[in-house]
Amino acid sequence: MLPDELRSKAASVRWYHTIDLGQGVVTHGIDESPTRLARLALPASLDGQTVLDIGAWDGFFSFEAERRGASRVLATDYYSWYGNGWGTKAGFQLARAALNSRVEDLDIDVMDLSPERVGTFDVVLLLGVLYHLPNPLLALERVASVSRRLLVLETVVDMVGFGRPAAAFYPGRELNGDPTNCWGPNVPAVHGMLRSAAFQDVQTVTCPPAAPYRALRAVAHWWRGKNRLDLAFRQDRAVFHAWKAPQSAADRQGDRGVSSVS
Ligand SMILES: C[S@@+](CC[C@H](N)C(=O)[O-])C[C@H]1O[C@@H](n2cnc3c(N)ncnc32)[C@H](O)[C@@H]1O
Repeated sequence: MLPDELRSKAASVRWYHTIDLGQGVVTHGIDESPTRLARLALPASLDGQTVLDIGAWDGFFSFEAERRGASRVLATDYYSWYGNGWGTKAGFQLARAALNSRVEDLDIDVMDLSPERVGTFDVVLLLGVLYHLPNPLLALERVASVSRRLLVLETVVDMVGFGRPAAAFYPGRELNGDPTNCWGPNVPAVHGMLRSAAFQDVQTVTCPPAAPYRALRAVAHWWRGKNRLDLAFRQDRAVFHAWKAPQSAADRQGDRGVSSVS
C-alpha cells in the first residue's frame, strides 16, 4: 500500500489504539497504547509461543505479540467488532494489512471461549476487558480453560486501600460515564478470583500507587472535573501475571521481560 493511500484509509477509521502502521503513519487512537504496553511487563521474547488476545479491538497488543516472535496469534473480540458500539473491525483489518501481519481473528464472546472452540494458548492477554464483564469470575474460568501457562491481565481496580477482597458494582454509568463498565474489583479480589479460576501462581506486576500520591491525583482529577474526589482516590488500573502452575522466581523473572516498542 502506498503511503498516501494508507494515510487516507487510516484517516477514515475511528481508532482506539495508537499504532505505528509504518511509512510514517501513526493512528490517532484515543488510547495511549505504547505507554500501556510498558506497564504490562510482557515477556521480551515470545519466540515460538502461541498467544490469544481477548478483546483485541484494533489489535495493537496482538501485533506486538507477533513482533516479539509468537508463532501464532489469535485476536478475538465481540462487542467492538460487532459494529453496534463505539468502534468497528476496520482498524484491525487495515492495521493487519499495513503491517503485513499473520495475526488470525475470530469474533467470539469471552463467555464462549473453550478449548473446543479456540484451542489452548501459551500466553493469554486479557487487557482492559475484565471490568466490562457482568460475570467476571465465570469469565476467568473460561479464560483459564484456554490458558496453558501465563495470563497477562490488565484491569480497572476500585476499592483500592481496602484490605479485604471487594469490588465496586457499576449498574449504570458510574465508571467514566460508560454503561459497558460493570465491576471494579480491588487487588485482593483479583488475586482471589484468579486463584478460584485455577491459576496457581498470581503476581501483581503493576499496582496502584500509595495513598498520598492517589490523594494528590484525586484532587487534580476532581479539580479538572474528571471524577468525584472519593471515587478518584479509590480507582486505578493494575496489571497481574497469573500462571497455571507454580513458578520459580527465575521463571517469573523470565516472563517479566523488558517491554519495548520499536
Ligand atoms: C477497553 S477495550 C480494550 C481493548 C484492548 N484489549 C486494550 O487493552 O487496549 C475493551 C475490549 O473488550 C471487548 N469486549 C467487551 N466485552 C467483551 C466480551 N463479552 N467478549 C469479548 N470481548 C469483549 C470490547 O469489544 C473491547 O474491544
